[in-house]
Formats: sequence, structure tokens, C-alpha cells
Amino acid sequence: MKVFIVDNYEQMSQKGAEIIADVVKSNSNPVLGLATGSTPIGTYEKLAEMNRCGEISFKNVRTVNLDEYVGLDKNSDQSYVYFMSENLFDKIDIDKNNTNLPSGIAADFDEECKRYSALLEANRQDIQLLGLGSNGHVGFNEPGTPFDSMTHIVDLTESTIKDNSRLFSNIEEVPRQAITMGIFEIMKSKKVLVLASGRNKANAVYQMVKGEISENCPATVLQNHPDCIVVVDKDAAALI
Ligand code: GLP
Repeated sequence: MKVFIVDNYEQMSQKGAEIIADVVKSNSNPVLGLATGSTPIGTYEKLAEMNRCGEISFKNVRTVNLDEYVGLDKNSDQSYVYFMSENLFDKIDIDKNNTNLPSGIAADFDEECKRYSALLEANRQDIQLLGLGSNGHVGFNEPGTPFDSMTHIVDLTESTIKDNSRLFSNIEEVPRQAITMGIFEIMKSKKVLVLASGRNKANAVYQMVKGEISENCPATVLQNHPDCIVVVDKDAAALI
């Protein structure tokens, strides 16, 4: 695990974008594993800027996202499919047919999980971007998720529902379930990039970098990844 500590969110976003841009430039058909949340928004802005000024192109890029809320689709501005269009896909030259998220409105979620796992099998990520839940979750893999998990449905923990309620008009509106890429499928990415910013992530960052590897804190599994880069700002690095 390689850890970079930078001054602030702006620098984290810049470094994150440079690492992803390098992957895009050095592969003829790159597969990017993408994440949602407040953390990667700045990185996505910088990637869109690099695209605008011709430094990189997403024409040959395919993407796979980590997760989606159960019950939400592109018509909901809280869905992750909406988030990705708003924050990245509508701002770059990617073919939207090459972008993939698990569906939050599948008729049969067992089938949807199998479909998404097969898609991931056929599209191994060259890099997987991750944010961190304050409880150490990655994607929506909550504490206790087995390290060999594949795409599955999760019941969100109270702490995640509370953390994510800031983006909804009230806590009752936060979906109680999500569909997420499994930990095994995250670990299969050739490279992993974790971004974290702010004091509320400091404990999760400490556990991820220095804690005992345990399913009680999903991010600790990343200590076993052969090429994991962590970029955190000073506040998020306060305990390491
Ligand atoms: C959500 C997402 C995660 C994300 C986490 C942190 O629960 N499922 O993928 O990493 O929130 O979000 P934020 O970046 O907003 O702190």
C-alpha cells in the first residue's frame, strides 16, 4: 500500500485525476472502476477538464461502477446512475453504452447480481477508484462482509444511512438497501486508488492503513492488494 498525504481536497483531487489519467493514456482499451460520493467529485471535474483540453480521451474507455441504491434509477437525482451522468459522463467524450452500473430497479435481483458479476468478469478493472465509508466500508460492503463476496444486495447499516442522509431531504428517504460490487471483485482490479478527505474519515483511514486485517473493517483487505495507492488529505491522515 502506497500512501500519499496531501494538504487538502483540491490536491487530493488533482493527484487522483493524474493517476487515473495515466491509466487511460497507457491502455488502448482501459476499464475504469468508478465510485460515487462527495469524495471523487473534484477528481471527476479535473478529468473532465483534461478531456476538454485534449489531454485525454475517453472514447475507448469502459467503466464499471461500484454500487447503486435499491429502488432508485436514472429518474431519481439521488441515484448513482444520475450522479455519474451529472458529474462525469455528460462532461466527457465517453460512449454511454460503455458505462455500467448495477441496476437498482431489477425485477429479479439474484439475476441482476449474476449479470453484474459476469460483466465484471469480462471487464477486469485496470484501476478501481474507491471512497471510504466512515465505518470502513468500500462500495457498499458494510462491516462483516466476507472478503470473498461477489456482487450482492446489502442492508445498509444505521451509520451509513445517517452519513448518506445529508444528501437526501430527510433520513426517511434514504434507501435501506443497495446492490454492490463484492470485495472479491474489487480486489481483482489491477490497481486500486483510495481517496479520502476530512477528519470524519481519519479513523477509517487509520484502520485501513494500520489496523488488523479483518472483515469487521472491509477497507483493511486493501493491505493485501499488490498495487493499492491511497491519497488522503491531512485531516483524513490525522491518525496515521
Ligand atoms: C457511499 C458509497 C461509497 C462511498 C461512501 C463515502 O456509501 N456507497 O462508495 O465511498 O459513501 O462517501 P463520501 O465520499 O460522500 O464520503
